Amino acid sequence: AQDVVVGLLGLGTVGSGVIQIINDHQRELQHQVGRPVKIGKVLVRDKTKPRDIAINEDQLTEDAAEILNDPNIDVVIEVMGGVQEAREYILEALGNKKHVVTANKDLMALYGSELLKVAADNSCDLFFEASVAGGIPIIRGLTEGLSSDRITEMMGIVNGTTNYILTKMDQEGRDYDEVLKEAQALGFAESDPTSDVEGLDAARKMAILGTLGFSTDIALEDVIVRGITTVTTEDMEYCRQLGYTLKLIGLAKRKEGRVEVTVQPMLLPDSHPLAAVNDEYNAVYVYGEAIGETMFYGPGAGSLPTATAIVSDLVAVIKNYVLGVNGHSIPTPLFEKQLKSDEEVEAKY
Ligand code: NDP
Ligand code: HSE
Repeated sequence: AQDVVVGLLGLGTVGSGVIQIINDHQRELQHQVGRPVKIGKVLVRDKTKPRDIAINEDQLTEDAAEILNDPNIDVVIEVMGGVQEAREYILEALGNKKHVVTANKDLMALYGSELLKVAADNSCDLFFEASVAGGIPIIRGLTEGLSSDRITEMMGIVNGTTNYILTKMDQEGRDYDEVLKEAQALGFAESDPTSDVEGLDAARKMAILGTLGFSTDIALEDVIVRGITTVTTEDMEYCRQLGYTLKLIGLAKRKEGRVEVTVQPMLLPDSHPLAAVNDEYNAVYVYGEAIGETMFYGPGAGSLPTATAIVSDLVAVIKNYVLGVNGHSIPTPLFEKQLKSDEEVEAKY
């Protein structure tokens, strides 16, 4: 069978994990999709930078056009981050009929509906499982596993960096700045960690989850955000003495017919299941009218967990083109509804 050729935009923490999984799990991938999966070209900012991952020098390029205009490349994986360039490259890839997988929540929270529409117009898939909660299949969980239910509330820890910082401050009494540096070195933090510690990264993820879970269109500015920059080890110690654990919690719920989304530090009783979610791990509680409550739990950041979500999206893309059904990815109509309240939903259906 013909090879599936992937173009990779970015070879940092996540991009390196993608190459490792495609190499190490080739047998499993071929078993799933019936074809060899190969990495074609890889976009980086600096070709001369020393890299840990085994990659041929001639596969690296600093020119995105070598990937976006290469007719041999079937699927583009965007793991470079940032918003404007990433958006431009994804639009060009879709325009050139290449399917796209991205881990970019900054981009999806701002331009998700536009990009999904362009993908559908070009009969292409655009999947973004890794954009929320790293390796946890929460987007598929919401849009497929719970698609028959009416979601009423989602509550979770969706940022690995801040959860890592709070855990180490709480359990080891360590200083915020020192642990933040460690989270950066471990590859959990964003290139500018301000978005992690100020709660913006979690806000982007909650906007995506709220949009998908409530079939609406939650703009980033609709999310009320507070981060963890003012939390001290003394605060953590005090909480512990009172039997509470401090966590950065994202909450999205239907309230009086409308949806409310917040991200803020909250005190949870030590007995609460989210109080036991430690280090870079994430967890999302989903409450549905029919299911009651269910919790998704797993590693929320890091190279291989995040890359697992990406390569699983790649498998879904390839299965779709073997079946000839690309461009019908489930989230698209959800992003297009743009209905804010229950009344608007009722009126439409
Ligand atoms: P890194 O900073 O580790 O890697 C970014 C890569 O993209 C680098 O290889 C860099 O090149 C390349 N790059 C960046 N900008 C450009 C550009 N303008 N032109 C060409 N190449 C560019 O980031 P991560 O791997 O950590 O994250 C990538 C994406 O995945 C982000 O959107 C992030 O939010 C998301 N994500 C990250 C997770 C994590 O745990 N790290 C988890 C879930 C999602 P060079 O190597 O030459 O510098
Ligand atoms: N910086 C993000 C986090 C990466 O710490 O959760 C995963 O999206």
